[in-house]
Amino acid sequence: MLRQALLAASASTQIRQLVTTLPVSRDVVARFVAGDTADDALAAIGRLAGEGLQATVDYLGEDTASREQAAAVADEYIALLGQLGGLATAAEVSVKPTAVGLGLAEHGEKTALENIVRIAVAARNAGTTVTLDMEDHSRVDATLRLVGELRADFPDLGCVLQAYLRRTAADCQALAAAGARVRLCKGAYEAPGDLAWSGRRDVDRSYARCLRTLMRGAGYPMLATHDPRLIELGGVVAAMTGRGRADFEYQMLYGLRTAEQRRLAAAGARVRVYVPYGSDWYGYLVRRLAERPANLAFFLRALASGH
Ligand code: FDA
Repeated sequence: MLRQALLAASASTQIRQLVTTLPVSRDVVARFVAGDTADDALAAIGRLAGEGLQATVDYLGEDTASREQAAAVADEYIALLGQLGGLATAAEVSVKPTAVGLGLAEHGEKTALENIVRIAVAARNAGTTVTLDMEDHSRVDATLRLVGELRADFPDLGCVLQAYLRRTAADCQALAAAGARVRLCKGAYEAPGDLAWSGRRDVDRSYARCLRTLMRGAGYPMLATHDPRLIELGGVVAAMTGRGRADFEYQMLYGLRTAEQRRLAAAGARVRVYVPYGSDWYGYLVRRLAERPANLAFFLRALASGH
């Protein structure tokens, strides 16, 4: 309920205005976001690499409203990839399709495709890969069409499937059979009940089912969750399906369960941290506050103490 209310309220322009201008928001954002600039992201990747952790870097922003802005977002990724240098073995990029044009009223899908191709070429030249984030349910079909097209030229392009959607079991089967790199997450957006599981237990059960499908398949599973039970299940199913440590990975968000990230890496698992940077952090922050009461409490405590 709280999650739904927060995600719904976040669409209000007044609330956005308030949250983005409160001085306290900056402190809270610093916990979840690496910084404003590509240099901040590069520094974070370097620190993580020093701890044996890999990264996937997200230039914050979504629902881009013009072709020029969509192209500028792609340019930012391309510049970042050009600066990776030796860090390319430790970092890839995550791209939101609507940030590079998917939501544009005219030629949105074509614009997104062209921009993602440019980013994927830059990633290939740098020696790394791209993963397409998954946004709200209305974008899933278009995003999977993009993934299908792009994988013909960039077979290592990754994508995200969200366990809270009822359709995801079937999408997992298809992408596992195709040998794709798939990040499995629970899903951070709102969706109507006929499309999505609403109870936590149903979502967790769906995640467990999808995890098994991906692990048994021909692709590369990326288990994006902070949930201790699902992390443990991942290890068990990997052992049962004969997957070695390099045959799947865990993924977590920057600033969340950092001790667990290090523990898994020290135990020999491959762990990748999702590193967001940039000044357009509002949507990302709201999703983090909505998915976990402790994150919201952290924000409210900071608000109450005035720093
Ligand atoms: P959830 O939030 O349900 O928590 C389950 C349990 O985990 C908690 O009860 C607690 O025990 C433990 N836990 C969680 N956070 C903790 C913390 N900070 N400290 C201690 N314990 C904690 N979503 C999307 O829709 N599209 C996308 O493309 C992506 N991409 C993405 C990439 C990566 C790398 C990650 C990790 C996540 C995403 N997500 C996403 C977000 C995802 O869908 C989901 O909203 C969050 O990961 C929260 O769900 P969890 O599976 O982490 O568990």
